[in-house]
Amino acid sequence: MKGIILAGGRATRLRPLTKITSKQLLPVYDKPMIFHPIETLTQAGIQDILIIIAPEYAGQFLNLLGTGSDFGAKFTYEIQEEPRGLADAFIIGEHFIGNDNVTMILGDNIFDENFSSVVQNFQSGGHVFAKKVQDPQRYAVIEFDEHQNVLSIMEKPQIPKSDYAMVGLYILDNRASKFAKNVKPSARDEIEIPDVINQYLPSGELKVTTLSGIWEDAGTFDSLLKVNNYWAEKARDSNK
Ligand code: TTP
Repeated sequence: MKGIILAGGRATRLRPLTKITSKQLLPVYDKPMIFHPIETLTQAGIQDILIIIAPEYAGQFLNLLGTGSDFGAKFTYEIQEEPRGLADAFIIGEHFIGNDNVTMILGDNIFDENFSSVVQNFQSGGHVFAKKVQDPQRYAVIEFDEHQNVLSIMEKPQIPKSDYAMVGLYILDNRASKFAKNVKPSARDEIEIPDVINQYLPSGELKVTTLSGIWEDAGTFDSLLKVNNYWAEKARDSNK
């Protein structure tokens, strides 16, 4: 199993903070945000990790993260010249993935969850994760049956088929790169991840696990504040 962290993007919703650095280098309590997805992957037993970054702050990432040895991992870096969309991770990562399976995590997605059993037991197809939310219209919504088979994934549907949002961690086999190349840009001119994942559906190879722990995409001021407070409180509790 290889790992990819997608840590480029424009981060327009966090300006002016992101006029001086990358979103994924901003603090989440006592460490830079990207430490969280790195730890999510390493805790799941993934050591071979590709980090995809934007050109502007590439030097800062290298300076901070280096070879990966501090994390017991091996880091490879790729530049994404333009934010073409989340599915681009599998195109940029095609050679890195090679014949292996891949777990891709978004650089601004913060979990307090251990993914190791699903990662270690993964064989082929795709495995996604769902979290119950109040406002599913804002997310990619997953419809699934009682055997954890995914029936549909729809990006920001007006009439959601469930209250479950797809979170930013995806386990896919190496067809992901081929499938990503089939995807046409959406109305917002990005290649979207549900369009990759939906290609596993006709053969019934897509599974889902629901999450109970915290999941936050730290892309807005409010969600960034929320994750800062969550980890601050957790640190205080563990010092009691
Ligand atoms: P988003 O939050 O969808 O996009 P963004 O980070 O550019 O922010 P904004 O909408 O405020 O402009 O991205 C989710 C994650 O994926 C985030 O960690 C950045 C990363 N990303 C890329 O690396 N490349 C891309 O092409 C896109 C769209 C996102």
